[in-house]
Amino acid sequence: MRNSASPISLTSEPHPPAPSASRERYGIKLRRFAGSALYADQLDTPLRVAHLTDLHVGLITPMKVQAEAAAITNRQKPDLVVITGDFVCHSHAFLEDLTATLKAFDAPVFAVLGNHDYWAGAPGVRQAIRRAGVELLSNQNTIITLRGQKLQIVGLDDAYTGHADRQKAMRGAARNLPTLGLSHIAEEADGLWADGIPFVLSGHTHGGQLTVAKIHELALGKIGGHRYIHGLYGRRTADSQAGHGAVYVGAGLGAAVVPIRVGDRGHREIALFDLGLAPGLLDEHHAEQVALRPPLSIPEHLARAIAHEKFQARKKRRFRAPRD
Ligand SMILES: [Fe+2]
Repeated sequence: MRNSASPISLTSEPHPPAPSASRERYGIKLRRFAGSALYADQLDTPLRVAHLTDLHVGLITPMKVQAEAAAITNRQKPDLVVITGDFVCHSHAFLEDLTATLKAFDAPVFAVLGNHDYWAGAPGVRQAIRRAGVELLSNQNTIITLRGQKLQIVGLDDAYTGHADRQKAMRGAARNLPTLGLSHIAEEADGLWADGIPFVLSGHTHGGQLTVAKIHELALGKIGGHRYIHGLYGRRTADSQAGHGAVYVGAGLGAAVVPIRVGDRGHREIALFDLGLAPGLLDEHHAEQVALRPPLSIPEHLARAIAHEKFQARKKRRFRAPRD
């Protein structure tokens, strides 16, 4: 566990104007949002955070996409880049490419791991990430200084593979600082809100990838047990003390299995958050959405685990060698 103040080199230059939404090369969508209202009370100067997730560096996602994503991000001159897991696909075959990808970001990068990072082997992925100078938070919190202001980051380890420990992540955390939560699995945001963290960034769902006719909501919500599929959910009002908050589920950049990304919500994505700008000041891609209700009356993490087991069983059946 860490609770440290990391000195970060700062710029005092104003942020360049960013569009509320734009489509860049390789189908990457750049979307812009304000942070929670609480940050507007806590910060004198807005801090720009670029959020990327599910890079899945490997065969399915071309390296030119990874390089372009870093270039788009750098042009927005964020104070901070955060990446919420799934750096790799299924193996350690592309760890050098992963390190090179992460080194391309100009701003300091903070990250948490995702389920694919564990499935591929977390120690190797951790090494590759740290070789790039990225600060990996595994159930840890830290305080950084950006534009002369403190920002606390709480990073939850991957909940899908059972590594999230919120109590550990919050140990020693300051209660009076602007705080940003990171978690690969968005449903963990509910607990982080209860701990007073008003805003959480996450990934994992890839926005559903196939998002026409709400197929993604059917697949990830009704079958997969997820309540947060893509974009903003919850409340950005300044009442985190009451256990409310907001979560953003990024659509991600890459894919681990199928490269298809169809529909507005399924595109590759980079999301910019200007923490300290009050919600309502920006023309945002969409407003806060209502969480989906999973149909099963069992706990959500169990529903997700069951869905995952079914998926793995189907995959095994499909690739089973024919009998003689
Ligand atoms: Fe992923």
